[in-house]
Amino acid sequence: MRRLVRETRLDPANFILPLFVCPGEGVRRPIGSMPPQCQLSIDTAVEECREVEALGIGGVILFGLPETKDDQASGAYDDNGIVQRAIRAIKREVPDLLVITDVCNCEYTSHGHCGLGVDGDVDNDATLDWLAKSAVSHARAGADIVAPSDMMDGRVGAIRSALDRNGFLKTPILSYAAKFASVFYGPFREAAESAPQFGDRRSYQMDPANAREAMREIELDLEEGADMIMVKPAMPYLDLIHEARNRFDVPISAYQVSGEYSMIMAAAANGWIDLERAMIESLTSIRRAGADFVLTYFAKPAAKFLA
Ligand code: PBG
Repeated sequence: MRRLVRETRLDPANFILPLFVCPGEGVRRPIGSMPPQCQLSIDTAVEECREVEALGIGGVILFGLPETKDDQASGAYDDNGIVQRAIRAIKREVPDLLVITDVCNCEYTSHGHCGLGVDGDVDNDATLDWLAKSAVSHARAGADIVAPSDMMDGRVGAIRSALDRNGFLKTPILSYAAKFASVFYGPFREAAESAPQFGDRRSYQMDPANAREAMREIELDLEEGADMIMVKPAMPYLDLIHEARNRFDVPISAYQVSGEYSMIMAAAANGWIDLERAMIESLTSIRRAGADFVLTYFAKPAAKFLA
């Protein structure tokens, strides 16, 4: 009877698994703070994608660890960059799997910020060109959806017009529209080796205290041409997922970020919480709040649980 009247259901099709792609071959390098997630070389990422597809998971989102970093983030928009090569390999070997790419610079800049560093700050407008070039190079490599996560103002418009100019009229933009300057990204920065070397990201990511501003950020991104939007992190911002659901009739996603995942994993490892139930309850709460799909490091175990 509970099953009959249940209001919110989980389906692996609504999960997106984040993958961290690194140079080399046969690499599965454990990320200490996010067990059992690993940095994967392109070949092992392809293996992972086969499994993801077999489990019926909605798709993957790719993050790249380049061979070298510089102050121009050149690895981000290099047609032979790590993510661009990974997209081509995945699309060749697992062509039906949905591939989303994270469009940002923090994994590629020597200082770890999401944009061009100028005088200890980040130059918003100068960064737009890097983002547009990255999105186009991802689309050219075969990405199905590009997802800018940098939080520069005007990036969705810049990316949309660059995609259109280059013939990628059908490539949708999933914008990380309401992305907060959150402490819960901590483990990710180990995973992606992208911790800022000076200051923090508060000049471009949002203040966790601001809900109305979040709605305005979403509205602006939609005006600029975003096809789907994201709220990030997820659990500390369920109110905003819900508010966005009530206001906007576009696909809404939420990112259950690294810190949310690691807290549950750490508590479970200590025997303080039941892992499976915490995983399912947290994902259910995010869907119940109104997210159509969830980016989550639990995608594989949750899909197995639901099978
Ligand atoms: C890149 C980016 C970050 C995350 C996704 N894209 C890190 C950040 O903004 O510092 C975080 C994801 C996670 O914590 O799982 N800008």
